[in-house]
Amino acid sequence: MSILIINQGRYLGHWVTALTERRPGLDVRVYPDAGSPDEIEFALAWNHPLGAFKEFPNLKCIASTGAGVDHILRDPELPAQVQVTRIVDDNLTQDMATFVVAQVLNHMRDLHGYKAAQNTSSWKQKRYLRTQDVTIGVMGMGVLGSHTALQLSQLGFKVLGWSRSAKLLEGIGAYAGPEELDAFLSSSNILICLLPLTKETANILNKQTFEKLPQDAFVINVARGEHLVEEDLIEMLDKGHLSGASLDVFRTEPLPEEHPFWSHPKINVTPHIASVTDPASAVSQVLENYDRLRNGEDLLNLVSRTKGY
Ligand code: NAP
Ligand code: GLV
Repeated sequence: MSILIINQGRYLGHWVTALTERRPGLDVRVYPDAGSPDEIEFALAWNHPLGAFKEFPNLKCIASTGAGVDHILRDPELPAQVQVTRIVDDNLTQDMATFVVAQVLNHMRDLHGYKAAQNTSSWKQKRYLRTQDVTIGVMGMGVLGSHTALQLSQLGFKVLGWSRSAKLLEGIGAYAGPEELDAFLSSSNILICLLPLTKETANILNKQTFEKLPQDAFVINVARGEHLVEEDLIEMLDKGHLSGASLDVFRTEPLPEEHPFWSHPKINVTPHIASVTDPASAVSQVLENYDRLRNGEDLLNLVSRTKGY
């Protein structure tokens, strides 16, 4: 059995190194040099060319190189029998929390604003927010959202979480389902999106959602670009209802040069780096699943193809 690496737009050479260093002699192939298609039962994927998996009649498992699997499940020709797994990794989880904390603190002290002021030698002191002034709402209380919420709570923030099923974590207000969304939003001065991209969550960051947030709320999207209706964000920023946004993910990546987000004074752009899988750290769970597949055992970090995450 071999491992096929298949991707577009992200360098996966580090995965080849990590796999072969950890297991010398492992048969690792990189698409499109897959060799005999019948021999491929296990694939490691990020943003594969749609339709490519149907070339492999014996494919049994597709492992995402990241936490998200939307890039796999969006393929209309995904073979029905294939199991899909994702990465759950302490470094990935901690990196996300650290990034979100940095964005929250940056917003509260307007550090981006002072950097812009420095560019024009402008000395202008502004009022700033204190921890007790803001309530933070985390949409998506899974692996990443729960840990991020707990870290923010430990810093002294009041934190609320919203998910499909209520998550009872010490010190975190629990909200669940569409019926509790409005109450959650109405208290969230900073809204963080850490939802998986599914049919239910696509476009969830829209005008109706933003209108329910308190005046001057700040939005942080570290989930997927398709969660956000871009023109609604710009409208709500320009109207002054929202005070700003930090965006790490976009409908089109890389974000096109002419995109209005680049130059919007209230938007901070980062190039999808909130939390990036380190193959050296995540390779052991991929190899564990490779072995489990060979032995006919249950896989780790299996995704529900029905739920979409
Ligand atoms: P996860 O463990 O699967 O958690 C997903 C959470 O979202 C769960 O709490 C789930 O609720 C909730 N949810 C799903 N559908 C919902 C709905 N319709 N309404 C309300 N809540 C819903 O996922 P994760 O590992 O935390 O990762 C989240 C996402 O982060 C990934 O899918 C990926 O897109 C993104 N990500 C981004 C980066 C980056 O660098 N920007 C890095 C890694 C991941 P239940 O708990 O009730 O099921
Ligand atoms: C990154 O976006 C991931 O899903 O891991």
